[in-house]
Amino acid sequence: MRYSLLSPGKRLRPILCLLSAEALGCAPATAMANAAAVEMIHCYSLIHDDLPAMDDDDLRRGRPTCHIQFDEATAILAGDALQALAFETILQDTVDPAVAAKSCLVLTRAAGAEGMVAGQVDDLLAEKTGGDAKMLHAIHARKTGAMIRASVVLGGIAAKANAEQIELLSNYGDCIGIAFQIVDDLLDVEGTAENTGKRTGKDQDRGKLTFPGIYGIQASKDRAEQFVEQAIAVVDTFGPAGKPLKQLARYITDRSH
Ligand code: IPE
Ligand code: IPE
Ligand code: MG
Ligand code: MG
Ligand code: MG
Repeated sequence: MRYSLLSPGKRLRPILCLLSAEALGCAPATAMANAAAVEMIHCYSLIHDDLPAMDDDDLRRGRPTCHIQFDEATAILAGDALQALAFETILQDTVDPAVAAKSCLVLTRAAGAEGMVAGQVDDLLAEKTGGDAKMLHAIHARKTGAMIRASVVLGGIAAKANAEQIELLSNYGDCIGIAFQIVDDLLDVEGTAENTGKRTGKDQDRGKLTFPGIYGIQASKDRAEQFVEQAIAVVDTFGPAGKPLKQLARYITDRSH
């Protein structure tokens, strides 16, 4: 669990969570339990995503994947335990029980059978059956978008956001979530193991349904950019406090790893 969780990832999801609390005028630390929890769920999803039964990868965050470093059973169990630890962290470290309950509900929905897990199921299914643009969007919105949206919303919940603010954060999260996975697909085509810390060029070999596969490289870049612009427009309403969220949206398409 420590090997994978503390390895050098980008920490995008916890940062989003903290910035979203900040955009609502709260100290980022208010959202720390939620931020840690989203990274734990994300890390569990990566450990399982890399297993031989799924994407069968041997490199993650510049290091051997969990099942290569240890063994498959350890990787499955480390993922399972990180998932439990995420909810334990929220429930143990959140002062207000109503905030803790709402946070757990949002996170279970994002991670579960209608969110990330559903996206992962369809991602693997599409390797065999193929799929169209509609299917592609549905996969990306759930396998990656759901957890990114939840990360932003969880910052809002910790900051006791009202329904209108949650709606804005949720829209922002949807836009950058899809943009993030488009760029992930692009990095698999154009990146290297050195800059991404994971094997590249694998999606096509495995027959994955990806943005570059369906739309081509340039149109995928254009789409990612459009989603980022949309996200930036959504958080305009937060005024100066929303500036870090805008900068983070830019980073989604500027990143090289
Ligand atoms: C990788 O996520 C998996 C996807 C959902 C695309 P990240 O690119 O955020 O991975 P880390 O956390 O930085 O390793
Ligand atoms: C992973 O998508 C999404 C989740 C782990 C939920 P990918 O399979 O494209 O992520 P990478 O490229 O292995 O990081
Ligand atoms: Mg995968
Ligand atoms: Mg993968
Ligand atoms: Mg990928």
